[in-house]
Amino acid sequence: MSFVSSPLTGSKPEQYAQLAQQARALLHGERDRIANAANLSALVYHALPDLNWAGFYFFDGTELVVGPFQGLPACVRIPLDKGVCGAAARSRQTQRVEDVNAFHGHVACDSASRSELVVPLYDGEALIGVFDLDSPKLARFDADDQRGLEAVAACFMEALR
Ligand code: SME
Repeated sequence: MSFVSSPLTGSKPEQYAQLAQQARALLHGERDRIANAANLSALVYHALPDLNWAGFYFFDGTELVVGPFQGLPACVRIPLDKGVCGAAARSRQTQRVEDVNAFHGHVACDSASRSELVVPLYDGEALIGVFDLDSPKLARFDADDQRGLEAVAACFMEALR
């Protein structure tokens, strides 16, 4: 399989439509979740500006355990009652945090992180994990980013089925 990622162009929604298309092409025909999470982390990390971490935590039945990612080494295990990741997993809602220092219980892995977006990954009722993005910029993620990254996360879940 050869895959060429091309620069994203146009409005933000247009860019995210291109990113989702690239994600689908990248994951096409492969169901291995480690392989797909690794490639998707690399795709997103290099396609989007102002990120210092992009990757996955997977639920092991008890807590979230770090999976493939791009960025600095991260906390290995996050209990469901901790952090932005835990909040996303528990609430089943994407957590978009403009200022991580103002988020009670934020787990600081990279002290450069200022804002964060975490998309929960569910297969029906079953928690699979979370897709986590960190930025060194305050309020890096807006509603367009949230919709776009939820669509990318949906590509990941779709490829597992
Ligand atoms: N900040 C996250 C922990 C994971 S790192 O950002 C990679 C949290 O509060 O859950």
